[in-house]
Amino acid sequence: MILEKRNFYLTTPIYYPNSNLHLGHTYTTIVADVLKKYKQAQGYDVFFTTGTDEHGQKLQDSALKAGKKPLEYIDPIVESAKELWKILNIDFDAFVRSTDSIHEKNVSEIFTKLYDKGEIYKGSYKGKYCVPCEAFWTDSQLVDGNKCPDCGREVVESEEETYFFKLSKYGDRLLELYEKNPDFIQPESRKNEMISFIKEGLTDLSVTRSSFDWGVKVPFDEKHVVYVWIDALSCYLTGIGYGVDDEKFNKFWPCDVHLVGKEIMRFHAIIWPAILMALDLPLPKKIFGHGWILFDEDKMSKSKGNVVYAEPIIERYGMDALRYFMLREFTFGQDGNFTYTKMLNRINSDLVNDLGNLVSRTVAMCEKYFEGFVPKATDIIDLDKELIDLAVSVREKVDFEMDKLNFSGALEEIWKLVRRTNKYIDETTPWVLIKEDKERLKTVIYNLLDSIRIISGLIKPFMAETSTKINKQLGISGSDFEGLRKFGLLEEGTKVCKGENLFNRLEVEKELEIISENNKKLIEKRKQENTTKDETEIVEEEKITIDDFAKIELKVGKVLECEQHPKADRLLVFKIDLGNEVRTIVSGIRKFYSQTDLIGKKVIVVTNLKPVNLRGVESNGMILAASDDKNLSVLTVLSDMEEGTKVS
Ligand code: MSP
Repeated sequence: MILEKRNFYLTTPIYYPNSNLHLGHTYTTIVADVLKKYKQAQGYDVFFTTGTDEHGQKLQDSALKAGKKPLEYIDPIVESAKELWKILNIDFDAFVRSTDSIHEKNVSEIFTKLYDKGEIYKGSYKGKYCVPCEAFWTDSQLVDGNKCPDCGREVVESEEETYFFKLSKYGDRLLELYEKNPDFIQPESRKNEMISFIKEGLTDLSVTRSSFDWGVKVPFDEKHVVYVWIDALSCYLTGIGYGVDDEKFNKFWPCDVHLVGKEIMRFHAIIWPAILMALDLPLPKKIFGHGWILFDEDKMSKSKGNVVYAEPIIERYGMDALRYFMLREFTFGQDGNFTYTKMLNRINSDLVNDLGNLVSRTVAMCEKYFEGFVPKATDIIDLDKELIDLAVSVREKVDFEMDKLNFSGALEEIWKLVRRTNKYIDETTPWVLIKEDKERLKTVIYNLLDSIRIISGLIKPFMAETSTKINKQLGISGSDFEGLRKFGLLEEGTKVCKGENLFNRLEVEKELEIISENNKKLIEKRKQENTTKDETEIVEEEKITIDDFAKIELKVGKVLECEQHPKADRLLVFKIDLGNEVRTIVSGIRKFYSQTDLIGKKVIVVTNLKPVNLRGVESNGMILAASDDKNLSVLTVLSDMEEGTKVS
């Protein structure tokens, strides 16, 4: 059957230049890449745009601080982002830098067009401004009276002449859009947030700045630059040839799905469609706001030190394991807490036990019982039919889940088949059949191999390398995607060949230490390398308030006991007297102190930390120490103080 070519356009956000993109950042691009490959396999002509959002005050300031011109500062950062996408096998079609001259020309023309149509007018803005977010807020939008609703930082009073986009007039049209297109905003919960926001009343949007000049100049008023959102959002148009290649543009616009993180939903679901309405351009079909990948239940951030990088994971466990885990573990649309333990356990259970074992057992049996030649299936009994019916029905179920962007659900459907096929081995007991009924064994082995062919084809958009390895073992170059709805396509007589394990079993405890350590080393390395500062580091330099400090409870404690941690050489387990209680605290200071060194000593303890389980021992607090690369010294008090005395 020749499939009619259909077009599909998808985008990820245009990232702020950041030399240290973490696992949270990689989430959207991994998802987009899987979606692209799945749609392509279904026969779509897919175009995927990503890029970098390079204008604005923050970047100008950062470049200045680094003693560089903006582009001189940004270029290497953009290269490092591209490098990461390469490592992750992200197959984008356009990488738009908002500083590309063609994009700058587009922005300038779009702005002029909106102005000429009366959609933009000049005025002046006085209000509360958040410098890091480059956004003005009304009093009712502020949190706690003076904090930015997006980032929580304090806003400043500011006044400037600015151009406004007439956003206020689009409220009703936007509500109508959502009502007529129930899938426009996904997931549902985000739609409700957008509706309430609009119902509170939209105000016109300030779309230029004159307080800095790193941006696209307003063509007819050069002391203004176009504010970041019109600039950044328009990258989605530039990616498919807006202004230069009408054929390509008309082929792919309107966009099928903009994939974005939940915090930038408002810009995509409210401001963006309003701008497009004003430009008389068709509207995107869907905006999907995914959740955040958290670490320690908190948003990943270098400044908090709770950052996980993709590179050490890929280096040790492979890209496919990471891609599988990210898509299987987290529900796209909801926040999810990343832990190495969850990842390692899932690799062991789903990839080593379920998939890896299935492939290696089956291919080994085919080699052992039939010299590696795919046997011919003869009589099909009910038990076989059950497996076959499931195998040929999975493709449709996966299509259904992928249409909803339910990646975890799609993988679960595939894994139902993986598990069912494994169970089929236990039910048919080939090792008994070899002795009792070789004819029946032929059918069994064939059914196993052909189910694996289908599984391999289905996982390909998620895990291309693994799929290729499986195909190689099956002696085939791949399977037509339509052929995944049919059973019996693996040709009799094909020579299978056992390869290396697809995934190796991991010793969780050991790996946990290694991978955490490797991640820590990379954090350290990047800290040192950072001669140039990126977005996150600007945050790092900010001071905390006395209120922030007051949240940390510090007390004097007396060390009563100290033991070696039963499972980790570098950890000591302390019993610390805090006056009215004795706490167990695990500390990684074994390299610097023996079990007896600190007995009876007064130390400073953080007492209101959430308890953590450190390799089987619950730690309830933290002992403070000063450290550099070589030395470590535990903090104490100069004169004797009672246990439990507060430190402030
Ligand atoms: N430049 C804007 C987007 C403009 S789009 C026209 C921006 N850039 S960003 O670099 O800050 O963020 C890029 C994407 O990374 C966002 O979708 C954001 O939600 C996502 N993530 C950053 N940290 C994340 C997690 N910890 N988890 C999941 N996604 C996260 O915003």
